Amino acid sequence: MTVLRAVPVGIGHYLPQRVVPNDWFETFLDTSDEWIRSRSGIERRHFASEGETTSSMAIAAARAALDMAGLTPADLDGVILATSTADLTFPSAATMVQAGLGMDRGFAFDVQAVCAGFIFALSTAQAYIASGQARRLLVIGAETFSRIMDWEDRSTCVLFGDGAGALVLEAQDQPGEPTDRGILATDLHSDGRFRDLLYVDGGVSTQSTGVLKMEGREVFRHAVEKLAETAHTALERSGNRAEDVAWIVPHQANLRIITRTAQKMGIDMDRVIVTVQDHGNTSAASIPLALSVGVERGQIKRGDLLVAEAIGGGLAWGSVVLRW
Ligand code: UT7
Repeated sequence: MTVLRAVPVGIGHYLPQRVVPNDWFETFLDTSDEWIRSRSGIERRHFASEGETTSSMAIAAARAALDMAGLTPADLDGVILATSTADLTFPSAATMVQAGLGMDRGFAFDVQAVCAGFIFALSTAQAYIASGQARRLLVIGAETFSRIMDWEDRSTCVLFGDGAGALVLEAQDQPGEPTDRGILATDLHSDGRFRDLLYVDGGVSTQSTGVLKMEGREVFRHAVEKLAETAHTALERSGNRAEDVAWIVPHQANLRIITRTAQKMGIDMDRVIVTVQDHGNTSAASIPLALSVGVERGQIKRGDLLVAEAIGGGLAWGSVVLRW
């Protein structure tokens, strides 16, 4: 029996020109390149320049993804954009991308699940495609976390960066086997009781923008516990096993979390896409950025089985298994 799968046909990304190395923080904070590198694996990150926004970066990433797919915006049925740092309270950043691309049809909306946003957006896109409601969707993760940093808090502001990644998914009939191309399984979770571990202390209904607050050590603990578990669940649902996985494409928050999750899954680090050293934590943009860079480096190839996993504010976490 054939099934409709959401198959990746194009990927692209955009990173702001401004690259900020760790030692920049030494000029105004009691921190060091050594601390940041050894505790997080981060060496540098990109920061958006004045006038650059989440939607402007998302548009650049989307154009690159459409180019790779050999498609035009008119071929798309919709745009789903994962972000916690939209340009405006409304309309959604996704509708700004839609207009920026010159799309005059289809739908567009944002998904907000913080660092797990791209996983939730992929799962949403997969549901639209599998149910026949859309044939081609642009799924984007884009963030300007530099705009919600507390520059006096050394425990958070050294960790985050800006950027955008975009993926074009297309409905294709597949045999309905674990060896199919496209999204094979998803696993989503959230638990609002952990709100205080990672949040922004402002928002529209409190009439402020706020800055990011994080209990790093606690989030770390949850990440190590939950990521391997969700990845295992999605893999099982997909009918595949750890030994079938070509690449883990993890959320890029901390190299130590990435390493421990791979260890728990029984997968060697040479089968993990790592970009955290160059991008820092770009929240919802981190997985599509890692996917795009992984393809660009020649690591991810057609037919490769991928497991993407992420956790962040909410807490919200989950994973997606897909064959490239
Ligand atoms: O994307 C959403 C998910 N987020 C994450 O996954 C982040 C999860 N958490 C982490 O990645 C890590 O917890 C951090 C990188 C944030 C921190 O690493 P840690 O090993 O958990 O360090 P810590 O918070 O336990 O802090 C250790 C020490 C503290 O000093 P004391 O109390 O031991 O004297 C901190 O004050 O390091 C100190 N510290 C710093 N020192 C130099 C905290 N930030 C810095 C800094 N430079 N930037």
